[in-house]
Amino acid sequence: MSNNINTIGVLTSGGDAPGMNAAIRAVVRTGKYHNLKVMGIKKGFKGLLGKDVFEMSARDVSDKMQRGGTFLQTARCPEFKEDANVRRGVEIAKELGIDGLVVIGGDGSFRGARDLSLCGLPTVGIPATIDNDLPYTEFSIGFDTAVNTAAEAVDKIRDTATSHERCNIVQVMGRNCGKIALYVGVTTGAEAILIPEIPFDFEQSLLVPLQEAKRHNKQHFIVILAEGVGTATDIVERLKHEIDLDSRSTNLGYVQRGGSPTVRDRIIASVMGKSAVDLLLAGKMNKLIGIKNGQIFDMDIFEALNVQPTLPDELIELSKILSI
Ligand code: ADP
Ligand code: F6P
Repeated sequence: MSNNINTIGVLTSGGDAPGMNAAIRAVVRTGKYHNLKVMGIKKGFKGLLGKDVFEMSARDVSDKMQRGGTFLQTARCPEFKEDANVRRGVEIAKELGIDGLVVIGGDGSFRGARDLSLCGLPTVGIPATIDNDLPYTEFSIGFDTAVNTAAEAVDKIRDTATSHERCNIVQVMGRNCGKIALYVGVTTGAEAILIPEIPFDFEQSLLVPLQEAKRHNKQHFIVILAEGVGTATDIVERLKHEIDLDSRSTNLGYVQRGGSPTVRDRIIASVMGKSAVDLLLAGKMNKLIGIKNGQIFDMDIFEALNVQPTLPDELIELSKILSI
């Protein structure tokens, strides 16, 4: 043991993501491997403020890796944006003897982690959100499972779209990020993909590609719509008046957030979970863990939260070329 880390805490925060359990498991097992005391904090920052905390053994994480959701549960805790509550969180962590905290979550959770670190609690963040909307890392835990779930659903919708020669608008999650839509659109051969990163123009973004698809004698018309652009029902309503195509809407919704994590998500979660504990033990505090070109890396939390998003131009171009 080094750097006076004897006890670590772990919590999951924000929207749940498949693979969070695998990450918790890796943190707990790595901690126990190094003879640390590991405290599981339930329901994210809410549980920290409410002292909803228990000591974990290696057996507490048995039979959890393959399960979706997070068995530590999660919560949104708006009051954690107030400095006084962050300070209270640090006091509680200190009372409980927690020397370092692993936060598993997305952008919002990492802002909480950053504030805790500013108030003196060493933290390390593991990215877990189906949205994959953290620009500093190529992938976050849960994204792979979510896009596989969504693609499987779209494949099914395509069967019925072809039978009826219909246009199906499929709304996927992602908050203000179009990555889920883009990956699902490219891998299901969608005729159009609508993402918030590209300003939506009804004529150019939707009517033109659908008319093109008709001209090319396509028998199905799949549009993948990121929730950040609008709703599938609104798009169908507008389409009725603009094009001679029988259209239907589907909102895939929370099915994308659940289910057993893919092997890829389990691997990333396992490696990142171990890495988080290794960082704390090495005295490398206030970091976010990420993955780039298959390599796990860590970055200062302030720096990581300031990385600006870039447009995935290559995938956008690919989707256009391959859907003619
Ligand atoms: P995610 O972590 O998946 O992005 P949210 O945006 O809902 O999910 O954030 C999760 C939690 O993180 C919030 O409920 C709140 O407790 C905390 N949080 C969000 N933004 C901040 C902030 N600016 N400062 C401190 N804590 C924050
Ligand atoms: O961040 C994950 C996510 O599922 C987003 O894609 C979506 O916009 C949001 O969470 C839904 O949040 P809630 O669980 O509060 O309905």
